[in-house]
Amino acid sequence: MSDEGISNLSTEDRRFDPPAELAENANATAETYQRAEADRLGFWADAAHQLDWGTPFEEVLDWSDPPFAKWFVGGKLNVAHNCVDRHVEAGHGDRVALHFVGEPGDTRDITYAELKDEVSKAANAIEELGVEAGDRVAIYMPMIPETVIAMLACARVGAPHTVVFGGFSSDALASRVDDCEAKLVITADGGYRRGNPSSLKPAVDEAVAKLGDASPVENVLVVRRTEQDVPWDDEIDSWWHEAVGNASSEHEAQMFDAEHPLFVMYTSGTTGKPKGILHTSAGYLVQTAYTFWATFDHKPETDVYWCTADVGWITGHSYITYGPTAAGATQVLYEGTPDTPDKGRWWEIIADKGVTLFYTAPTAIRTSMKWGDEIPARHDLSSLRILGTVGESINPEAYVWYRDTIGGGSTPIVDTWWQTETGAHMITPLPGVTSAKPGSAMTAFPGIAADVVDDAGTPVGNGEGGYLVLTEPWPAMLRTIWGDDERFRETYWARFEAQGYYFAGDGAKKDADGDIWLLGRVDDVMNVSGHRLSTTEIESALVSHPKVAEAAVVGAADDTTGQAVCAFVILRDSAGASTDEQGGEDVVQELRTHVGKEIGPIAKPRKVLIVQELPKTRSGKIMRRLLRDVAENREVGDASTLADSSVMDLITSGMSDTKNQED
Ligand code: WTA
Repeated sequence: MSDEGISNLSTEDRRFDPPAELAENANATAETYQRAEADRLGFWADAAHQLDWGTPFEEVLDWSDPPFAKWFVGGKLNVAHNCVDRHVEAGHGDRVALHFVGEPGDTRDITYAELKDEVSKAANAIEELGVEAGDRVAIYMPMIPETVIAMLACARVGAPHTVVFGGFSSDALASRVDDCEAKLVITADGGYRRGNPSSLKPAVDEAVAKLGDASPVENVLVVRRTEQDVPWDDEIDSWWHEAVGNASSEHEAQMFDAEHPLFVMYTSGTTGKPKGILHTSAGYLVQTAYTFWATFDHKPETDVYWCTADVGWITGHSYITYGPTAAGATQVLYEGTPDTPDKGRWWEIIADKGVTLFYTAPTAIRTSMKWGDEIPARHDLSSLRILGTVGESINPEAYVWYRDTIGGGSTPIVDTWWQTETGAHMITPLPGVTSAKPGSAMTAFPGIAADVVDDAGTPVGNGEGGYLVLTEPWPAMLRTIWGDDERFRETYWARFEAQGYYFAGDGAKKDADGDIWLLGRVDDVMNVSGHRLSTTEIESALVSHPKVAEAAVVGAADDTTGQAVCAFVILRDSAGASTDEQGGEDVVQELRTHVGKEIGPIAKPRKVLIVQELPKTRSGKIMRRLLRDVAENREVGDASTLADSSVMDLITSGMSDTKNQED
């Protein structure tokens, strides 16, 4: 093992072939890969021709000024027309676009014909409020149909939106509104969460007040969801049900340039202020629509799709608002949390709506594993035919649990690797083609070029680890960081400048067959006695123990070995009472021995801490930085982006009485 690559530690022998019937009728086949391989740009041009264009494009890709790409040069289209009107014109107006399920139990079905009317009305209303093509609109909403309608209305009038997750504070909202100079904020009085109405509008008022005279906000449009009292300012506030309710449902969609900005999505960097990731129109829509169709093998007449992500994240943008609607999908939109009113809520919705394609995050799967098999077992999940994951590596054990317990033992799983920056799926199995390995995202999507390279940018051999790079531009790629081209270059293109590669920040390895396994962020890689160990592999080894539901490992400074592996572990509810609180000494030793056996003595955690919760961001990613602070006995750093800020207190208070566990 060298100092350059990341050590390849684990092996996995299980394989899951596509079910025969699925393979026979699959949208994407082995031939799809061949076609893309033979003519990459021609392949994406074909995908683009599935959309309606006002003016056809003249050139597929202009890469004359890297890293600034232009896709489908000279073409003009309207994104909302493609996501909505097109299906009505094709005679599918009666098809349900959204099966909305509110947390309190209210439901609402919206057909494509109704969606067209609603989006047109909203487009007229925001134009009436002075929004023109190119103006920015901030959207700060719960998970309700109006959120999707608002986004599509912005797209329709060519006003780039920036959706700020409804769980974020007024500070986060203010900084984003400020950075992109949003003229209009669309919000709601509130939404329902964990059985109670939560409020949103007051945070908008706070944000606007905070920005003071410099506030770019001219209007605030408010959806009434919870009927709470809200502070009101006639100067800038208007109700959605009045402004949109009274607007005409006739709205002519203008055509915009293929590279017209579609939205800015803020994502936190390792340091400094959040980066406004800019996505533009045609390339983004082509790749989200095509990947949705291929990765989920989507059949518009029969499938019911559900993505559990919040629209405030990129997954909600690409695989709720844009990709699925462009494909004419029927999808579920759920407002609330998985455990309200009880831990069976998701499974109940799947059974009720006959969901066939289900897309969620590994963290949610591990939480369900922790809650126990008997909860999903109470519901009929037999409608499911494809399961997807995104956001982190799925540990092989969680993968097999997902396939067996949710997927009835036969449902293919698509482990999709991508990022806010990539806009759409980049590395994933295809359900009708790939013989999948649990824990691996497998291979680049057709028409996508990815590799794993060493420090010098040279591709590593099979069986070796390194840095995941994208070696060719792709249609849905970010175009820049809003207002900061230099930061865009520096952040993504400087590391492998000589090769012209985009560096994603993730470590990965190629297995003996050349298939790709994600190993976690390279910032989180540990260096133990000169061996670079991946967080993902050790976490997966821990999760493979029957008592473990979830694990996070970090490297803590160590005088002799440089860093030592320190593991934080959540036990399954079924692990029993003896493992309460800090867990018995027994289980700790058992887990250390288990990792030693699964991976090797080098990876054996020096410390194992049994915890009740792990610090996660609101999108479900573990914040290892905070765990490193705990492991190194430092004061815990900035925890303001945690979903639940009390988690760190819980963890640190449990730390004091742990002794050195080394044998
Ligand atoms: C991680 C989410 C392993 C990765 C769409 C990436 C994954 C970051 C996977 C982007 C996966 C996402 N396997 N890791 N299937 N999918 N990641 O911007 O570290 O919220 O760089 O986009 O999540 O997170 P983001």
